[in-house]
Amino acid sequence: MINITINELLIWVKRGSTVIQACEAAGVKIPRFCYHDKLLIAGNCRMCLVEVGNSPKPQASCALPFLPNMRIFTNTALVHKAQEFVMEFLLLHHPLDCPVCDQGGECELQEQSFNYGSDRGRFFFFKKSLGDTFWGSLIKTVLRRCIVCTRCVRYTSLIGGSDIIGTSNRGGNSEIGMFKENALKTETSGGVIELCPVCWSGFTYS
Ligand code: FES
Repeated sequence: MINITINELLIWVKRGSTVIQACEAAGVKIPRFCYHDKLLIAGNCRMCLVEVGNSPKPQASCALPFLPNMRIFTNTALVHKAQEFVMEFLLLHHPLDCPVCDQGGECELQEQSFNYGSDRGRFFFFKKSLGDTFWGSLIKTVLRRCIVCTRCVRYTSLIGGSDIIGTSNRGGNSEIGMFKENALKTETSGGVIELCPVCWSGFTYS
């Protein structure tokens, strides 16, 4: 066990954990989209940013192993501002159709946008609209709502043993896709429905 300070509270945590796990153990809630404790760490949504000691920039807590005597802050002005900006980017291309979305009221993205996002955005242009592709008999995609957290990619590769799903392009043009239509046939493929943070929007039962 080693000690670490979270919001000025000294706690002892198991060696080898990441900062997000230490915060969880201390009962401190960190918002996240791409992180899942049963999957490999991707660190691509940036929602879990925290302030570390004297570091000038906030860091992704899910990909940050902690060191002895590290000082973590999760509720500073810098962290709140960073989370607000990340939410703004995540919602850049997400349609504002919550009132008609199947998952409206039970959506992780909606909740976190409410808790950590700003009430206005600075980007005014047409949103990217992706067409849906047929992934298999269990899953119906609504890709225009996808925030590219890549949980489905890692789950299918790690648990399903298939590398058929992947991401293409970069930055705001990143998208989740399949190399071949109707090819998600692993026994565990239905799990992506539960894993998706915009679940029942990114993926729905067909
Ligand atoms: S949860 Fe840490 S970067 Fe996504």
